[in-house]
Amino acid sequence: MTESQTRSTADVVILGAGPAGLVLGNLLQDSGVDCVVLERAERAHVQTRARAGFLAANTVRILERHGLAEGLRRRGQAHSTCEFRTADGRFRLDYSGLGHGERHTVYPQQELVTDLLTRFLAVGGRIGFGVEAVAVLDADTDRPSVTVRDADGRPGTWRARYVAGCDGRHGAARRSLPAGSVRRHHCDHGVTWLGLLAEAPPSLDAVGYAVHERGFAGHMARTSEITRYYVQCERGTAAGSWSEERIWDELDLRMRGAEYGPLHRGRVVQRTVVDLDSDVLEPLRHGSLFLAGDAAGLVSPSAAKGANLAVLAAEILAEGLTDALLRDNSAALDAYSARCLAYIWRAQEFSHWMIRLLHGPTGSDETSLFHNSLRHSRITSLRTSRSHQDWFAEHYVGV
Ligand code: APR
Repeated sequence: MTESQTRSTADVVILGAGPAGLVLGNLLQDSGVDCVVLERAERAHVQTRARAGFLAANTVRILERHGLAEGLRRRGQAHSTCEFRTADGRFRLDYSGLGHGERHTVYPQQELVTDLLTRFLAVGGRIGFGVEAVAVLDADTDRPSVTVRDADGRPGTWRARYVAGCDGRHGAARRSLPAGSVRRHHCDHGVTWLGLLAEAPPSLDAVGYAVHERGFAGHMARTSEITRYYVQCERGTAAGSWSEERIWDELDLRMRGAEYGPLHRGRVVQRTVVDLDSDVLEPLRHGSLFLAGDAAGLVSPSAAKGANLAVLAAEILAEGLTDALLRDNSAALDAYSARCLAYIWRAQEFSHWMIRLLHGPTGSDETSLFHNSLRHSRITSLRTSRSHQDWFAEHYVGV
């Protein structure tokens, strides 16, 4: 560990070095705000953790505005097509020609995190790796502190004026909220995905969404050698329980490889079981403690909004903290929660709609059949109605 253990005060203590914490750190550092980032994991882990990869146009604009987009401008791939495959056939939506005409940039999150980290350190940012925040204390005062322990279990304390909880869903920020201080809205969508990273080139030049009676399957390009797939599975499935052959056979079946061409198979290098659930905390503040990114709300991965919301929240929070600390003006900080929640709920609404588009009830009772017919009609509308497609494009690529 570095300097961060010897000097244990900062105006802003940021918990977590994911997209939220690192964008916030860079923006505060650039504004001249005294801050530190505390990250539980070691640097190598943070820089290699494969996660999301689809950046919305607004996310790219934010990163460009603050000089954080050099890597993604060089290595990111513009992407603007998705393909739906159903029993009725397949159709494509080129969303750069729909809605607001915007595109995604495909840029693996670990590369973005590496860029943000490198830049933060280059401009003199302070970061402690292997430092786990244990609890945020006295958040209801203007002298909050964070208790920590380092990789060897040694305890410490950081004193701050503000604490930014960017440490995800299971982090110390959420855990430290006193009962009743913040309300949690939660929804379990009752759907489970086996998320896979395969050493295989993409099988189609689009994001692929397969709606199949056996369940959902998804294809998301990452790089020319790595592709992400999702396959819906039973709740409670263990990540290692499907053989590679079963995974590929099932993906091929649901993606209708027999009709549209078999998938490019390869070694499965990562598997994660994801129970699709969403939550939103409200407000995103308790006294001097602010929440951003996954700590503020977890949006199910169906519409790839998580990292985009994290970057957006970090920009809004940075503005508020900078005004409060350097200009003695807390108006923007006081408005932070409400401003962010408006974006978060909009993203939640669209993600929820996507979940209901991609998954149907599995039973053959009357209600399940009814809902599956509704779903069929929803997909038909998306295939045929230009205004529906415009609405889809606007929300699919927007945050
Ligand atoms: N103390 C310090 N660091 C912690 C602690 C803790 N107690 N708990 C978690 N962390 C660290 C994690 O190791 C991780 O590096 O906080 C970081 C949180 O980063 P992310 O999980 O990437 O969260 P966030 O920055 O909010 O980005 C969220 O990115 O991958 C997408 O879609 C995903 O929605 C997600 C989005």
